[in-house]
Amino acid sequence: MSKMNKKVKSATYVSNFESVFKCPVCSASMHVVALESLVCEKNHTFDFTKQGYINLMIKQSKTKYGKDLFTERHSLIAEKGFFKPLMAAITDIINTQKKQGNEQLSLLDTGCGEGSHLADICERISIGEDSSVMGAGIDIAKEGILSAAKHYSNMIWAVADLAHIPFKDQQFDVILNILSPSNYTEFNRLLKKDGLVVKVVPRSGYLKELREAFFAEPEKQNYSNAETVARFREYFEIVASSRVFYRQTLDRSSIQSLVKMTPLAWSASEARVASFLAKETAEITVDLEVLVGREMVHK
Ligand SMILES: C[S@@+](CC[C@H](N)C(=O)[O-])C[C@H]1O[C@@H](n2cnc3c(N)ncnc32)[C@H](O)[C@@H]1O
Ligand SMILES: [Zn+2]
Repeated sequence: MSKMNKKVKSATYVSNFESVFKCPVCSASMHVVALESLVCEKNHTFDFTKQGYINLMIKQSKTKYGKDLFTERHSLIAEKGFFKPLMAAITDIINTQKKQGNEQLSLLDTGCGEGSHLADICERISIGEDSSVMGAGIDIAKEGILSAAKHYSNMIWAVADLAHIPFKDQQFDVILNILSPSNYTEFNRLLKKDGLVVKVVPRSGYLKELREAFFAEPEKQNYSNAETVARFREYFEIVASSRVFYRQTLDRSSIQSLVKMTPLAWSASEARVASFLAKETAEITVDLEVLVGREMVHK
């Protein structure tokens, strides 16, 4: 597909859901104009890019998450299926917990990175014949959203800060938050009544082989999610939680991808990273907690 087509295709798709957006500058409603831009009632204008995403940041934010990291994440997630069991677990939970009889299920992935998780989950969710799934992904890192828009069509991809989400109140049935920072006040604002937040946090064994190879200090080798889980409980009633645990043997090229796709290497010494990269194969542990919350009733 040509790049021009991609932009028009995406603008056409977004125009079906323009009522979801609110202007990041003035909070007014927005409309797709001339299949070129998303424009608010006060004329604040955000253009669709040639890849089909929209940048809704007022001030661009510097981030260490760059192009290479997202290329490697895409390779390990979409091409090698590194998180497949996690995707299956999340889809099961959504299928079990979602309200019956919804004609449309809308999902928002906050901190979606290169978008493979959201695209995969939207495709796996089973809903009735007359129903459809709408998926929107936001991330503060432009390179992540650019990669998402390049690979996945018929979804909304926007560069945006999850602490100031440019969507109106009560628009989403499911908010995904996978290995990313959170803003629970925003998530509550955006959830429809009875909507679900699905948050994925690491457990102590997550990528432990990498942490043990990268760091000598025991406090860096170990990880506890207790504080994160406690904070989640302050905002949401936990309706389900499940542990996703598995080990995968990675070959040399997947080891390269894994090391480059995680921020863990940022604070490790070059020598330690190099010695891990020299391995021919490695067994890697994935140990995650999926927390599923609903809005507290007394809110
Ligand atoms: C470890 S990555 C996880 C990405 C993706 N969910 C995945 O599992 O592949 C964390 C992501 O959170 C994003 N992020 C960090 N702060 C953010 C913010 N304030 N608003 C939106 N995204 C943010 C980063 O850019 C990065 O893509
Ligand atoms: Zn505006």
